[in-house]
Amino acid sequence: MGQGTEFGLVDLEEVETPGDEWEEINVSETEADRIARKRDRKFEQFEERIKDADQFKVEQSVFDDATLAALYKLVQDGYVEAFGGPLSTGKEANVYLAQGDGREVAVKIYRINASNFRQMRDYLEGDPRFEGLGGKKKDVVLAWTKKELANLERAKAAGVRVPEPLATERNVLVMEYIGNAEGRAKRLGEVHIENPQTAYEVMREYMRRLYSAGLIHGDLSEYNVIFDEGQLVIIDLGQAVTVHHPNSREFLERDCRNVANFFSRQGLEVTEDELLEFVTDPEPDPSGE
Ligand SMILES: Nc1ncnc2c1ncn2[C@@H]1O[C@H](COP(=O)(O)OP(=O)(O)OP(=O)(O)O)[C@@H](O)[C@H]1O
Ligand SMILES: [Mg+2]
Repeated sequence: MGQGTEFGLVDLEEVETPGDEWEEINVSETEADRIARKRDRKFEQFEERIKDADQFKVEQSVFDDATLAALYKLVQDGYVEAFGGPLSTGKEANVYLAQGDGREVAVKIYRINASNFRQMRDYLEGDPRFEGLGGKKKDVVLAWTKKELANLERAKAAGVRVPEPLATERNVLVMEYIGNAEGRAKRLGEVHIENPQTAYEVMREYMRRLYSAGLIHGDLSEYNVIFDEGQLVIIDLGQAVTVHHPNSREFLERDCRNVANFFSRQGLEVTEDELLEFVTDPEPDPSGE
């Protein structure tokens, strides 16, 4: 990682062309579904404990048996040791702080009964990774969770600072927790930015790197970028699509508009078009070929 770089632009690694790792996405019955069906005594005890835990009381609806079984499996596999409080409760997903293997982690739990399920389908349709996925809500949400993990891995490999993805189980994603003793890292829209020009330059470089790796975030704005110890961290990559998606251009333009508008409000003279050009313009080939 670049030492002491303002806004912490991270170093680049080699990236393969998009496509290959995504063929592995499989939404057949998960280990969590089997655990929920078998209901052995240890699982029942775990379930009781979680249902009684204060931080989950208000959110019972998120935790159907199979979701609890997914949490149980993540505990068994050592990704999570104990659950902490909620970091965010949203329409599609809730995010919890948890103690992981030697460090804190963020656990994002997608709701199977997501209210904007239709919108999820729009992002998945046209993505070669999800061809043949039926209309079952559960399968769509499971695919979505795996997609977020795959997208985070791809973004990380492309040199974009994102929470490190650690595991998925059914509709649950475990990732690096971004925050400190004072709590979760603030969203870009929640902090005062000392040097908007540098922040903008890092942002557009990350957008370009994502694009070069074949990915478009699709919901990029000051709400999905967090600010941690001088670094910008891009989050919420569930909906990110590949450049092959039929609406990818529209998503990219919208991302550029949101980011340009945000930085204009910070006093910079930036436009959507200029950003779009930067993001999509390939770097000059130094070999001149
Ligand atoms: N890895 C993380 N570390 C710290 N905080 C996180 C992490 N991931 C998410 N958060 C917090 O949780 C919030 C919601 O996460 P995210 O944007 O991924 O979910 P979402 O799908 O947008 O949920 P919503 O339905 O609320 O829109 C973020 O704005 C951020 O404050
Ligand atoms: Mg979000």
